[in-house]
Amino acid sequence: MLTHVNLCTLLCLPPLISIHSKCSAQNTQNFNRDDFPSDFIFGAGTSAYQVEGAVDEDGRSPSIWDIFTHQGKMPDKSTADVAADGYHKYKEDVKLMSDMGLEGYRFSISWSRLLPNGRGAINPQGLKYYNNLIDELVYNGIQPHATVYHLDLPQILEDEYMGWINPKIIDDFTAFADVCFREFGDRVSHWTTINEPNVMAIGGYDQGIWPPQRCSPNTPGINCNTGNSSVEPYTVMHHVLLAHASAAKLYRDKYQEKQKGLIGLNLYAFSCAPMTNLIADAEATKRAMDFFTGWEIDPLMFGDYPEAMKKTVGSRMPSFTANESKLIKGSADFIGINHYVTLYVFDSPSKPTGIVDFNSDLGVQFSVFKNGASLNSPLPPSIPFNPSGLQRFLEYFKDYYGNPPIYVQENGYGSPYNENLNDTARIDYLTGYIGSTLNAIRNGTNVRGYLAWSFLDVFELLSGYKTRYGFIHVDFEDKELRRQPKLSALWFSNFLKGKGKNKKLMSNEIDGSYVENLHSSQ
Ligand SMILES: *[C@@H]1O[C@H](CO)[C@@H](O)[C@H](O)[C@H]1NC(C)=O
Ligand SMILES: *[C@@H]1O[C@H](CO)[C@@H](O)[C@H](O)[C@H]1NC(C)=O
Ligand SMILES: *[C@@H]1O[C@H](CO)[C@@H](O)[C@H](O)[C@H]1NC(C)=O
Ligand SMILES: *[C@@H]1O[C@H](CO)[C@@H](O)[C@H](O)[C@H]1NC(C)=O
Repeated sequence: MLTHVNLCTLLCLPPLISIHSKCSAQNTQNFNRDDFPSDFIFGAGTSAYQVEGAVDEDGRSPSIWDIFTHQGKMPDKSTADVAADGYHKYKEDVKLMSDMGLEGYRFSISWSRLLPNGRGAINPQGLKYYNNLIDELVYNGIQPHATVYHLDLPQILEDEYMGWINPKIIDDFTAFADVCFREFGDRVSHWTTINEPNVMAIGGYDQGIWPPQRCSPNTPGINCNTGNSSVEPYTVMHHVLLAHASAAKLYRDKYQEKQKGLIGLNLYAFSCAPMTNLIADAEATKRAMDFFTGWEIDPLMFGDYPEAMKKTVGSRMPSFTANESKLIKGSADFIGINHYVTLYVFDSPSKPTGIVDFNSDLGVQFSVFKNGASLNSPLPPSIPFNPSGLQRFLEYFKDYYGNPPIYVQENGYGSPYNENLNDTARIDYLTGYIGSTLNAIRNGTNVRGYLAWSFLDVFELLSGYKTRYGFIHVDFEDKELRRQPKLSALWFSNFLKGKGKNKKLMSNEIDGSYVENLHSSQ
């Protein structure tokens, strides 16, 4: 029987599982770098809180994530106080990127490091750090792709006016973005204003699993102090869209002509497919795309929320004035998508819990398995990997939104903490999803880049240090946080440098001696 899988379960799962592939180490890669346009960008990413560490050094003030992790809220009770120590090791890290041949690097700017009071005075040491990092990237020929905001609001603004719930955030965000554009924009080719607004709204204000941990009292499984899941997720998305549009307008009016960069918004992209051929399931799938994707993207493309969503949510959904709608429509030069999971959707008219929230408004159920099986274990092997889901999502985007430029800004493979450096499963995963991206390009989608998650192992926002996504292994138990390239780093590097071009590469055939060395060095 099909059982209800709530969004929290899904969002919590990907980083906890090792994705099982029957054809491990058997994936034949029958494409190479030259099959992609020459101006297509391949790279990898991290985010400020997840990589930097140095949380109370050089004038940085706490973000909502510091408070959350220090309350022991992570499954492994971890914090990112040190993380991968990117704050001190950025030079070594950019050298590794350069050795790998990465063409672009996606990172984010810590608001509370740059503006410790949330607004006003710039912290000179924060300014210096990002200038150094960006200079180092440029010097090594790596395109800087900067995210202004990656979920780490200064706690001081949460305390002052409850952050994203309050429209005051729009001016403060715009002022923060202004500092970023002014100080760094001469060297940043791609700006993303805000990372994963849809998951931020659901995780932080409906499910309460992320800071600031708000949800309606008696939400099953979560103990929130306060919140209102039937209203706040919609309020937060509304303010995010207005803040994005305001910052994008500022960039276009004041900087873009001179700095020649692009500005976009990021989306957590669930790929949805109907569970059966029943019309009700096709309709449920459309509803799921409206709620997960249209909620955020329709306003950017059409100037308003999806009709069906407005009808269901009613007065709990804020509306745009005519001027706001005009401001938001067309405010992104590109959309960045983070894709990990395909959902098979079936119609579920009954409200599962009695709580009115995003989930009950959506009114569908889903499974990550085509046969509808429920996930009964968070342990590997669990979620199947499903590369064609990325192609489906990209083609939906092309058909529904008139083919705007897209960057895949996150996609990657999480393995358990104790994985070894011979990470053939990660190579299989990336081969599948990069191949899927290529299929989508061949079908006419406007994909301009692919940035894998993650450049190196970092603090993961759902699982702390329980999972690793990096090309570069970080020894978190070593005082020096020693970095070692995994086999996937060599594979990606060979791909980017065009090696093995005429050979159909098998992941376990990459380079015997390199793998031997990996083993003897562990
Ligand atoms: C949430 O807000 C709505 C609209 O203001 C209100 O009707 C409802 O009672 C609130 N729910 C909770 C749990 O506070
Ligand atoms: C909308 O914008 C126009 C011009 O941009 C302005 O004249 C008008 O006052 C604005 N309306 C509102 C309600 O803000
Ligand atoms: C997209 O490409 C696949 C092969 O990868 C093909 O089967 C499919 O028909 C194509 N779809 C469109 C809309 O072109
Ligand atoms: C690496 O892992 C693959 C798949 O598990 C295995 O076939 C291969 O023998 C391993 N290589 C080494 C050198 O251990």
